[in-house]
Amino acid sequence: MCGIFGSVADKVEYNTIKQGLKNLAYRGYDSAGIAVATNGGVVIERTEGHPKFLPDLGLTGTVAIGHNRWATHSPPTKENSHPYTSNDNKISLVHNGIIENYAEVRRFLEEKGFTFYSQTDTEVLPNLIQFYLSQGDNLQAAMRHTAKHVEGAFGVIFIHADHPNQMNLMKLGSPMYVGRADEAVYVCSDAYSFPEEVKTFSSIDDSKILIIRKDSVDVQDLNGTKLTLIFEEKNISADTYCLGKHEHYMQKEIHEQFDYVVSALAGRIRDAEIKLGGLEDCVESFAESKQVIFTGCGSAHNAALVGALAMEEVGRLMCRQMPAGELKYTDLLVDDKTWLITVSQSGETADVIGCIKNMRNKGAKVLGVVNTPNSTIYQMTDCGIHIRAGKEVSVASTKAVTNQMLAMLLLAYKIGLENGCSYRDYKAFLSEVQKLPYFINKVIAQEQKIRDICEHYKDSKTAFVIGRNVLEFIAKETALKVKEISYIHAEGYSGSELKHGPLALIDDKIMNICLLDKNFYPEKTMSNIEEIRARGGKVILITNYTKQEVDNKIYDRLISTETGENKFVTAMVFNVVGQLLSYHFALHNGRDVDLPRNLAKSVTVE
Ligand code: G6P
Repeated sequence: MCGIFGSVADKVEYNTIKQGLKNLAYRGYDSAGIAVATNGGVVIERTEGHPKFLPDLGLTGTVAIGHNRWATHSPPTKENSHPYTSNDNKISLVHNGIIENYAEVRRFLEEKGFTFYSQTDTEVLPNLIQFYLSQGDNLQAAMRHTAKHVEGAFGVIFIHADHPNQMNLMKLGSPMYVGRADEAVYVCSDAYSFPEEVKTFSSIDDSKILIIRKDSVDVQDLNGTKLTLIFEEKNISADTYCLGKHEHYMQKEIHEQFDYVVSALAGRIRDAEIKLGGLEDCVESFAESKQVIFTGCGSAHNAALVGALAMEEVGRLMCRQMPAGELKYTDLLVDDKTWLITVSQSGETADVIGCIKNMRNKGAKVLGVVNTPNSTIYQMTDCGIHIRAGKEVSVASTKAVTNQMLAMLLLAYKIGLENGCSYRDYKAFLSEVQKLPYFINKVIAQEQKIRDICEHYKDSKTAFVIGRNVLEFIAKETALKVKEISYIHAEGYSGSELKHGPLALIDDKIMNICLLDKNFYPEKTMSNIEEIRARGGKVILITNYTKQEVDNKIYDRLISTETGENKFVTAMVFNVVGQLLSYHFALHNGRDVDLPRNLAKSVTVE
């Protein structure tokens, strides 16, 4: 986590750095800080909370760096915010990642007479660089020695007061991009948050040291060997950060799903064939795999649950799934006939990266369901499907989850056709999945009604979300969304499991969000709803039954929405209802919808 943004030019505006940090706020918003090298020395500003709370200053300099913090090693106070300075006050440094041996490095430096003003891991970095400079190293050698001395993952940029026309960068494990404009060079934690004027950018590989000036970028590895950066065109839409008519990015991203589902399907269904360009070279080996393991974190893991079920039921491959943070430390039976499917919007989630390394060591091949080309995970996979969801800004993932599920369904049916799925079912799926954008818009058209329901139930302390089969995973995803942005406690359960424990909690104070698909054992879910009603539980029913088709005694509020017959496509439609419910619960409770407390969008620490 944490966001880094910096620039070097004849004139770097402090406010440009502040804007860069605002764009990167999804990576952490516990505190923020900026350092600018000016003629009069280095000026540093810090704030607790979101970078928007940094003062507006008309300050310019020759190099400036900034940081958004997601707190790990010390409380999210102004004092603990980056940049950190060295004992001689010459180095101002910002850091994304974790220095695992910081306690040992700190002792080493204390023995040399260095003092520390914080408990953070980051503070050892500027001082270690100062130490190596004092031993006679030039700046690059000091950076190399520092990078080798510390253990962990880091993306670092810093200013040295004796070199006010350059920015210095060290990279090992945390994402960093360099972008070039006509008059300036920028560094940023993602490729989407560069200013418009950036025309080309390069993703920095691990174990690299960079000296960046306004008209040159010198790169070397940790042995001092000089290297060249390859820059590519920046073809990224300018309106990513434009809210338009929407109140929040989350709302914008929910509404955009029509367009992004259309985009994800474009060219992928031709002559009744599913074409996934990124898989051409590996689809045969994939179809012959002995087992497929699906993984991801948070909402991406919930999407992976849907993918695994579809791949087993439709693709007829043996599947299992586990959250990446668990899979990484679980000794599963894995061999070279195993495929790992990693689902990640950002492509930078540390637990997923760890899983890939672990599974690869055991011989598995890796297929990435990715949204961010050039991301670390994208680069680590053997092949992949680009979900084409565009940039997501809101911390809670919505349109990416929809497109992740969609990509995995396309894959499941593609493999299914080879492995025995009936052509009739296959064709029915193809025709239905192309109506998904239409079904999604039918949900969005009911936003006002959903808003009103949320207003009525906004004071609920607990919500149970239940569904069966694939809808269990939509229940989990809806519950995750409700808790992460509205802070209402929510549990996602299989309807069948209700009677094995959770029913003990049901009374007239509990809100129950029940997912009922009229095409998949509806009577079973109906029984679960009856069990809830018998104990006085309130029921918000999400279903594809029409109002006329369903007994009004089984619900308090009804959200009836159109779907086809395919249970997976229906699940994706119901998931959009869950997104809108969680959004409006959060709004009614006055939450910061796009930036929920304690969370961040891109989790680059374990
Ligand atoms: C964080 C975000 C979630 C996201 C998860 C996985 O926890 O808050 O919204 O689902 O990370 O992120 P990824 O980028 O790997 O999909």
